[in-house]
Amino acid sequence: MKREQWKSTLGFVAAAAGSAVGLVNIWRFPYVVGQHGGAAFIAIYILFLILIGFPVLFSEVLIGRSARQGPVTAFTNLSIERVPIWKGVGKGIAFTGFLVSSFYSVVAGWIVGYFILALRGGLAGATTGQAAQSLFESKIGSVVWCLGHHALFMGLAFFVLLGGVRRGIELVNRICMPLLVLLLLGLAGWGLILPGGGGKASLDFLIRPDWSLLTPLAILTALGHAFFTLSLGQGTMITYGSYLKGKENLIRICAPIVLFDTIVSLLAVVAVTSLVLAGGGRLDAGPGLIFFTLPAALLNIPGGQIVAVAFFLLVTLAAVTSQISAMEPLINHFVNDRKWSRNQAVLACAGSSFLLGVPSALSFNVLHHVTFRGHTFFDLISFITTDIFIPIGGLAAVLFVGWRWGFSKAIPHLEESAMTGTRWSGLVKAYLGLCVRFTAPVLIIVVLLANLGLL
Ligand code: PHE
Repeated sequence: MKREQWKSTLGFVAAAAGSAVGLVNIWRFPYVVGQHGGAAFIAIYILFLILIGFPVLFSEVLIGRSARQGPVTAFTNLSIERVPIWKGVGKGIAFTGFLVSSFYSVVAGWIVGYFILALRGGLAGATTGQAAQSLFESKIGSVVWCLGHHALFMGLAFFVLLGGVRRGIELVNRICMPLLVLLLLGLAGWGLILPGGGGKASLDFLIRPDWSLLTPLAILTALGHAFFTLSLGQGTMITYGSYLKGKENLIRICAPIVLFDTIVSLLAVVAVTSLVLAGGGRLDAGPGLIFFTLPAALLNIPGGQIVAVAFFLLVTLAAVTSQISAMEPLINHFVNDRKWSRNQAVLACAGSSFLLGVPSALSFNVLHHVTFRGHTFFDLISFITTDIFIPIGGLAAVLFVGWRWGFSKAIPHLEESAMTGTRWSGLVKAYLGLCVRFTAPVLIIVVLLANLGLL
């Protein structure tokens, strides 16, 4: 069977941006910014995007496009001699995406559940922060609610993936991304014009840094965040890059992905903080910010119920386009390397990701007390993947491009894509050469050691 390709370069950009923009941007970013000093945290975060986010993204897309293979075979394909370890690394990377998809679907399921709840007016009773928190706890405490929405969300991803690269992933992203931008602009705009000063306070918060909150933990959080938000280290960008046609200018197509992801994160901060403040809520709720502080605050603002529906729809769209991108590397492996039919591969992948997600979903109710050193199954699997496997996957990509394959061998592949002749090409090459070979690997190793408690 012929290998699938994007219909157009814009299709790739939409899909990669759709992968990058997800729960992490809209659910996590606003509350970590709230906890770690607002503008100070954002400044450090942007610095990390430049120093490691972009170079790793670029390396992964370059590997995928040059090999025209997913992570399992791309590394060995580009190496001159076969070094078995790269095959293992490739497999591990595709498997990491699959692990992520299992617990990502659980949290995304809660979002779908809240979207349905908002549609049916079910958030109306939660008039105080306390009541909203109890509602949330009763929801995630229910096995049926958690598993039902986990299944529903996985079902959505399943249908998109069945459509294939063009008629599934590309099409859905081309529809969802503009819709997401419209919803987000609408929400941020509404938050900014509401009376009560929420808008001004949220902008102040974005502009005035509080450097005293920028602890070493905050810096590490920013570093880890820069990684996860761009969907790096787990084969997504290698796989999406492998569906490119081959003549694209990689700088020109990777830069908008990082830019778009960052703009969405910042808009999400404006929307969430201004709405919460306008409704009289506080910003320091941590992970509960959008699940209880926001719904309670929305009851105090004009049009709150519509805002709630729009908000949870927005997050659902963002989550679906990320979920499919976490599953695609393994599906690509089954289809292209093992010659399964796409239907078989999608069914196997979605089915097993759902099953693996079950203990994660139950970690908030019946399996709550089943812990290992105080951590539930959900805590463990999310820790192992996001804090250990994903940095290793990203490290592998930059070490491969920078050293194993070699930057000088990789560069002609970049130039194949019309890099030559641009005024900036020398500068861009120097920046990438430095970051891919030195800055990014060193910073990633620091994160890994810190995550392992060795630093
Ligand atoms: N980038 C996604 C987000 O911001 C997270 C993600 C990581 C999705 C890895 C898929 C794969 O939510």
